Amino acid sequence: MAFRNLRSADRGGVRTITIQRPDKLNALDRATLDELMQAFQQARVDPGVRVVVLAGAGDKAFVAGADIAAMSDFDAAQAQAFSRAGQALMRTIEQLGKPVIARLQGYALGGGMELAMACHLRIAARRARLGQPEINLGLIPGFGGTQRLLRLAGRGAALELCLLGQPIDAERALALGLVTRVVDDGALDAAVAELADNLAAAAPRALAGILDAVDTGGECALDQGLAYETQTFALCFASADRREGMHAFLERRKPVFSGR
Ligand code: COA
Repeated sequence: MAFRNLRSADRGGVRTITIQRPDKLNALDRATLDELMQAFQQARVDPGVRVVVLAGAGDKAFVAGADIAAMSDFDAAQAQAFSRAGQALMRTIEQLGKPVIARLQGYALGGGMELAMACHLRIAARRARLGQPEINLGLIPGFGGTQRLLRLAGRGAALELCLLGQPIDAERALALGLVTRVVDDGALDAAVAELADNLAAAAPRALAGILDAVDTGGECALDQGLAYETQTFALCFASADRREGMHAFLERRKPVFSGR
Protein backbone atom coordinates (compact mmCIF):
# COMPACT_ATOMS: atom_id res chain seq x y z
CA MET A 1 0.00 0.00 0.00
CA ALA A 2 1.07 3.60 -0.54
CA PHE A 3 2.19 5.62 2.49
CA ARG A 4 2.08 9.39 2.91
CA ASN A 5 4.96 9.79 5.35
CA LEU A 6 7.05 6.73 4.50
CA ARG A 7 8.93 5.30 1.56
CA SER A 8 9.61 1.62 1.27
CA ALA A 9 12.11 -0.02 -1.07
CA ASP A 10 13.31 -3.62 -1.46
CA ARG A 11 16.74 -4.83 -2.54
CA GLY A 12 17.18 -8.58 -2.33
CA GLY A 13 15.93 -9.63 1.10
CA VAL A 14 16.48 -6.13 2.52
CA ARG A 15 13.53 -3.77 2.95
CA THR A 16 14.41 -0.15 3.67
CA ILE A 17 11.67 1.89 5.33
CA THR A 18 12.40 5.62 5.25
CA ILE A 19 10.48 8.17 7.30
CA GLN A 20 9.74 10.94 4.89
CA ARG A 21 9.11 14.26 6.68
CA PRO A 22 12.48 15.96 6.22
CA ASP A 23 11.05 19.49 6.59
CA LYS A 24 10.05 18.48 10.16
CA LEU A 25 13.25 16.50 10.73
CA ASN A 26 11.08 13.36 10.40
CA ALA A 27 9.22 14.10 13.65
CA LEU A 28 6.74 11.38 14.61
CA ASP A 29 3.10 12.43 14.57
CA ARG A 30 0.26 9.95 15.03
CA ALA A 31 -0.18 9.38 11.29
CA THR A 32 3.50 8.51 10.93
CA LEU A 33 3.38 6.16 13.93
CA ASP A 34 0.36 4.41 12.38
CA GLU A 35 2.04 4.10 9.00
CA LEU A 36 5.20 2.70 10.62
CA MET A 37 3.07 0.12 12.43
CA GLN A 38 1.50 -0.96 9.13
CA ALA A 39 4.87 -1.03 7.37
CA PHE A 40 6.43 -3.24 10.05
CA GLN A 41 3.42 -5.56 10.14
CA GLN A 42 3.76 -5.98 6.37
CA ALA A 43 7.49 -6.65 6.70
CA ARG A 44 6.81 -9.26 9.37
CA VAL A 45 4.54 -11.40 7.17
CA ASP A 46 6.37 -10.93 3.84
CA PRO A 47 8.61 -14.00 3.41
CA GLY A 48 10.77 -12.08 0.93
CA VAL A 49 11.83 -9.65 3.66
CA ARG A 50 14.70 -10.98 5.76
CA VAL A 51 16.06 -7.74 7.21
CA VAL A 52 14.64 -4.24 7.66
CA VAL A 53 16.64 -1.01 7.56
CA LEU A 54 14.92 1.95 9.20
CA ALA A 55 16.07 5.38 8.04
CA GLY A 56 15.08 9.04 8.11
CA ALA A 57 14.96 11.15 4.95
CA GLY A 58 17.41 14.01 4.41
CA ASP A 59 20.85 14.69 5.85
CA LYS A 60 19.94 16.24 9.18
CA ALA A 61 17.92 13.76 11.15
CA PHE A 62 17.01 10.13 11.59
CA VAL A 63 14.08 11.39 13.68
CA ALA A 64 14.17 14.58 15.84
CA GLY A 65 11.51 13.29 18.19
CA ALA A 66 7.79 13.02 18.65
CA ASP A 67 6.03 15.87 16.84
CA ILE A 68 6.02 18.70 19.38
CA ALA A 69 3.48 20.77 17.43
CA ALA A 70 1.06 17.84 17.31
CA MET A 71 1.51 17.18 21.05
CA SER A 72 1.27 20.79 22.18
CA ASP A 73 -2.49 20.77 22.86
CA PHE A 74 -2.78 17.22 24.20
CA ASP A 75 -4.67 16.61 27.42
CA ALA A 76 -3.55 13.74 29.68
CA ALA A 77 -5.84 11.19 27.98
CA GLN A 78 -4.53 12.08 24.52
CA ALA A 79 -0.95 11.93 25.82
CA GLN A 80 -1.64 8.48 27.26
CA ALA A 81 -3.02 7.23 23.93
CA PHE A 82 -0.04 8.70 22.04
CA SER A 83 2.44 7.11 24.44
CA ARG A 84 0.70 3.74 24.11
CA ALA A 85 0.70 3.97 20.31
CA GLY A 86 4.43 4.79 20.32
CA GLN A 87 5.24 2.03 22.77
CA ALA A 88 3.20 -0.51 20.76
CA LEU A 89 5.17 0.39 17.64
CA MET A 90 8.50 0.04 19.46
CA ARG A 91 7.51 -3.37 20.82
CA THR A 92 6.34 -4.49 17.36
CA ILE A 93 9.77 -3.62 15.98
CA GLU A 94 11.57 -5.29 18.86
CA GLN A 95 9.49 -8.47 18.42
CA LEU A 96 9.44 -8.47 14.61
CA GLY A 97 11.29 -11.79 14.36
CA LYS A 98 13.58 -10.25 11.72
CA PRO A 99 16.59 -8.05 12.38
CA VAL A 100 15.98 -4.30 12.15
CA ILE A 101 18.91 -1.92 11.62
CA ALA A 102 18.60 1.79 12.45
CA ARG A 103 20.58 4.06 10.09
CA LEU A 104 21.52 7.12 12.13
CA GLN A 105 22.92 9.92 9.98
CA GLY A 106 21.99 12.94 12.13
CA TYR A 107 19.73 13.74 15.06
CA ALA A 108 18.10 10.81 16.88
CA LEU A 109 16.34 12.67 19.67
CA GLY A 110 13.45 11.87 21.97
CA GLY A 111 11.10 9.55 20.08
CA GLY A 112 13.86 9.18 17.48
CA MET A 113 16.24 7.77 20.03
CA GLU A 114 13.46 5.59 21.39
CA LEU A 115 12.77 4.31 17.88
CA ALA A 116 16.47 3.60 17.35
CA MET A 117 16.70 1.74 20.66
CA ALA A 118 13.80 -0.52 19.65
CA CYS A 119 15.81 -1.58 16.59
CA HIS A 120 18.21 -4.49 17.05
CA LEU A 121 21.32 -2.85 15.63
CA ARG A 122 22.22 0.82 15.26
CA ILE A 123 24.87 2.17 12.89
CA ALA A 124 25.72 5.84 13.34
CA ALA A 125 27.55 8.33 11.19
CA ARG A 126 30.19 10.26 13.12
CA ARG A 127 28.06 13.40 13.05
CA ALA A 128 24.95 11.73 14.56
CA ARG A 129 23.62 13.14 17.82
CA LEU A 130 21.53 11.06 20.21
CA GLY A 131 19.58 12.14 23.25
CA GLN A 132 16.44 12.30 25.33
CA PRO A 133 15.74 16.07 25.50
CA GLU A 134 12.13 15.77 26.74
CA ILE A 135 13.09 17.33 30.08
CA ASN A 136 13.57 20.63 28.22
CA LEU A 137 9.87 20.50 27.29
CA GLY A 138 8.73 19.68 30.82
CA LEU A 139 8.23 16.04 29.83
CA ILE A 140 9.66 12.59 30.31
CA PRO A 141 10.27 10.12 27.46
CA GLY A 142 7.00 8.40 26.54
CA PHE A 143 7.87 5.80 23.90
CA GLY A 144 9.92 3.55 26.19
CA GLY A 145 13.04 5.71 26.55
CA THR A 146 13.39 5.47 30.32
CA GLN A 147 13.08 1.69 30.15
CA ARG A 148 15.16 0.81 27.08
CA LEU A 149 17.94 3.24 27.92
CA LEU A 150 18.15 1.68 31.36
CA ARG A 151 18.34 -1.80 29.88
CA LEU A 152 20.80 -0.92 27.10
CA ALA A 153 23.20 1.39 28.91
CA GLY A 154 22.44 1.06 32.63
CA ARG A 155 20.99 3.30 35.31
CA GLY A 156 23.78 5.88 35.29
CA ALA A 157 23.56 6.63 31.58
CA ALA A 158 19.74 6.51 31.60
CA LEU A 159 19.56 9.05 34.37
CA GLU A 160 22.25 11.27 32.89
CA LEU A 161 20.67 11.41 29.44
CA CYS A 162 17.10 11.85 30.64
CA LEU A 163 17.78 14.24 33.53
CA LEU A 164 20.17 16.53 31.67
CA GLY A 165 18.48 16.30 28.28
CA GLN A 166 21.73 17.02 26.45
CA PRO A 167 22.49 15.11 23.24
CA ILE A 168 25.65 13.02 23.05
CA ASP A 169 27.83 12.41 20.02
CA ALA A 170 28.19 9.11 18.21
CA GLU A 171 31.49 8.16 19.86
CA ARG A 172 30.02 8.59 23.34
CA ALA A 173 26.96 6.60 22.25
CA LEU A 174 29.31 3.84 21.11
CA ALA A 175 31.15 3.89 24.43
CA LEU A 176 27.81 3.55 26.25
CA GLY A 177 26.74 0.65 24.02
CA LEU A 178 23.90 2.66 22.52
CA VAL A 179 25.12 2.21 18.97
CA THR A 180 26.70 -0.86 17.45
CA ARG A 181 29.12 0.94 15.20
CA VAL A 182 30.26 4.44 14.20
CA VAL A 183 31.48 5.14 10.67
CA ASP A 184 32.59 8.20 8.72
CA ASP A 185 29.65 10.22 7.42
CA GLY A 186 30.28 9.23 3.79
CA ALA A 187 30.62 5.53 4.63
CA LEU A 188 27.24 5.10 6.32
CA ASP A 189 25.25 3.69 3.40
CA ALA A 190 27.94 1.18 2.46
CA ALA A 191 28.25 0.02 6.10
CA VAL A 192 24.48 -0.36 6.46
CA ALA A 193 24.21 -2.23 3.14
CA GLU A 194 27.05 -4.61 4.07
CA LEU A 195 25.52 -5.42 7.43
CA ALA A 196 22.03 -5.83 5.96
CA ASP A 197 23.31 -8.11 3.18
CA ASN A 198 25.12 -10.30 5.72
CA LEU A 199 21.96 -10.67 7.76
CA ALA A 200 19.83 -11.26 4.65
CA ALA A 201 22.07 -14.22 3.77
CA ALA A 202 21.80 -15.75 7.25
CA ALA A 203 19.32 -18.47 8.32
CA PRO A 204 16.04 -16.62 9.06
CA ARG A 205 14.76 -19.09 11.66
CA ALA A 206 18.00 -18.94 13.59
CA LEU A 207 17.97 -15.13 13.42
CA ALA A 208 14.41 -15.15 14.75
CA GLY A 209 15.44 -17.57 17.51
CA ILE A 210 18.28 -15.30 18.63
CA LEU A 211 16.04 -12.22 18.63
CA ASP A 212 13.38 -14.09 20.58
CA ALA A 213 15.76 -15.62 23.13
CA VAL A 214 17.52 -12.32 23.83
CA ASP A 215 14.20 -10.43 24.09
CA THR A 216 12.77 -13.04 26.44
CA GLY A 217 15.97 -13.45 28.45
CA GLY A 218 16.23 -9.72 29.02
CA GLU A 219 13.03 -9.89 31.06
CA CYS A 220 13.35 -13.08 33.09
CA ALA A 221 15.57 -14.89 35.59
CA LEU A 222 18.69 -16.68 34.27
CA ASP A 223 17.33 -20.22 34.70
CA GLN A 224 14.15 -19.37 32.82
CA GLY A 225 16.20 -17.72 30.08
CA LEU A 226 18.47 -20.73 29.79
CA ALA A 227 15.47 -23.09 29.57
CA TYR A 228 14.03 -20.89 26.84
CA GLU A 229 17.33 -20.94 24.98
CA THR A 230 17.41 -24.75 25.10
CA GLN A 231 13.92 -25.00 23.58
CA THR A 232 14.80 -22.51 20.86
CA PHE A 233 18.12 -24.28 20.16
CA ALA A 234 16.34 -27.63 19.89
CA LEU A 235 13.77 -26.17 17.50
CA CYS A 236 16.56 -25.18 15.10
CA PHE A 237 17.16 -28.90 14.57
CA ALA A 238 13.75 -29.15 12.92
CA SER A 239 14.79 -26.68 10.21
CA ALA A 240 16.15 -27.39 6.75
CA ASP A 241 18.51 -24.45 7.20
CA ARG A 242 20.21 -26.06 10.19
CA ARG A 243 20.92 -29.14 8.02
CA GLU A 244 22.11 -26.93 5.17
CA GLY A 245 24.39 -24.90 7.46
CA MET A 246 26.06 -27.95 8.97
CA HIS A 247 26.38 -29.87 5.70
CA ALA A 248 27.79 -26.82 3.95
CA PHE A 249 30.44 -26.53 6.67
CA LEU A 250 31.37 -30.21 6.39
CA GLU A 251 31.41 -30.01 2.57
CA ARG A 252 33.52 -26.81 2.70
CA ARG A 253 31.03 -24.72 0.72
CA LYS A 254 28.97 -21.61 1.42
CA PRO A 255 25.50 -22.38 2.80
CA VAL A 256 22.40 -21.22 0.97
CA PHE A 257 19.59 -20.69 3.45
CA SER A 258 16.00 -21.06 2.23
CA GLY A 259 14.18 -19.93 5.36
CA ARG A 260 12.71 -23.41 5.88
N1 COA B 1 8.57 18.10 16.46
C1 COA B 1 8.03 18.92 15.54
N2 COA B 1 8.76 19.65 14.69
C2 COA B 1 10.10 19.53 14.78
C3 COA B 1 10.73 18.71 15.72
C4 COA B 1 9.90 17.96 16.59
N3 COA B 1 10.40 17.11 17.50
N4 COA B 1 12.06 18.83 15.58
C5 COA B 1 12.26 19.70 14.57
N5 COA B 1 11.08 20.13 14.09
C6 COA B 1 10.82 21.07 12.99
C7 COA B 1 11.10 22.52 13.44
O1 COA B 1 9.98 23.03 14.10
C8 COA B 1 11.34 23.15 12.10
O2 COA B 1 10.09 23.33 11.45
P1 COA B 1 9.75 24.74 10.73
O3 COA B 1 10.82 24.91 9.70
O4 COA B 1 8.38 24.51 10.16
O5 COA B 1 9.83 25.78 11.80
C9 COA B 1 12.09 22.07 11.31
O6 COA B 1 11.77 20.85 11.95
C10 COA B 1 13.60 22.22 11.35
O7 COA B 1 14.01 22.29 12.70
P2 COA B 1 14.93 23.45 13.28
O8 COA B 1 14.70 23.52 14.75
O9 COA B 1 14.73 24.71 12.50
O10 COA B 1 16.38 22.87 12.95
P3 COA B 1 17.73 23.20 13.73
O11 COA B 1 18.82 22.62 12.87
O12 COA B 1 17.82 24.63 14.09
O13 COA B 1 17.65 22.37 15.09
C11 COA B 1 17.16 20.43 16.45
C12 COA B 1 17.61 20.96 15.07
C13 COA B 1 17.00 18.92 16.33
C14 COA B 1 18.26 20.74 17.48
C15 COA B 1 15.84 21.10 16.88
O14 COA B 1 14.93 21.00 15.79
C16 COA B 1 15.20 20.49 18.09
O15 COA B 1 15.64 20.74 19.21
N6 COA B 1 14.10 19.71 17.89
C17 COA B 1 13.33 19.15 18.97
C18 COA B 1 14.04 18.00 19.62
C19 COA B 1 13.22 17.44 20.76
O16 COA B 1 12.98 18.10 21.76
N7 COA B 1 12.75 16.20 20.60
C20 COA B 1 11.96 15.55 21.60
C21 COA B 1 10.52 15.77 21.36
S1 COA B 1 9.52 14.96 22.58
